[in-house]
Amino acid sequence: MAPVQRINAWLRAVPAWTLYVAGAIPPAWLFFLAASGRLGADPVKGLERQMGEWALMLMVAVLAVTPLRRFVGLNLLKFRRAIGLLAFFYVLGHFLIWVLLDMGLLWSQILADIVKRPYVTIGMAGFLMLLPLAITSNNRSIRRMGAQRWQRLHKLTYPAALAGAVHYIWLVKSWPLEPFLYLALILMLLALRLRVATRAMA
Ligand code: HEM
Repeated sequence: MAPVQRINAWLRAVPAWTLYVAGAIPPAWLFFLAASGRLGADPVKGLERQMGEWALMLMVAVLAVTPLRRFVGLNLLKFRRAIGLLAFFYVLGHFLIWVLLDMGLLWSQILADIVKRPYVTIGMAGFLMLLPLAITSNNRSIRRMGAQRWQRLHKLTYPAALAGAVHYIWLVKSWPLEPFLYLALILMLLALRLRVATRAMA
């Protein structure tokens, strides 16, 4: 059996819920590090940034599921919903850390930042795009909306991930490689999808 088929066979035995359990470990660990003063000089900022980065990694992972199956043969389809929902919950955590711990619930300042700081505006746009996706990530919504409408709505994953990557690029002061790598990865995954869609239409 080819190695990728062996991995697929092994993955078939892994229930999708284990991902939710595994997904709860990084935030718990990060909170522990922050609370014990091991997340840098500004633990709130450290926590906020780490959660944002994990969210973006999960968004890239969810976009990679279909290409990995198509081009590598690795079947992670049964985990896609869990990865997507985890990405949403990480963004939600990232947002709540900002609102509660960083901004201390100062709503006038929070609203001013959302409107006036472009990196916050674009992050917020990404978050708002993820919201309907998270709400409809269940079998009942697929049945109610019909597969086609549901799939059309879930294409929002791409602009949401793009917004996350642009948000990251916008907030960095210098020119580090990392945010550009995320953007390049997301653009590449989008290009692969467009290529497949164009071929299907031809
Ligand atoms: C798709 C949604 C989002 C993604 C993927 C995302 C991702 C990220 C990433 C990767 C970072 C930088 C981490 C680092 O420096 O290592 C970051 C920082 C940050 N994000 Fe987000 N974010 C999102 C939405 C939001 C929203 C909705 C808000 C608030 C309204 C927000 C506020 C911030 C702030 C304040 C920072 C830290 C800026 C600083 O370093 O001072 N983000 N985010």
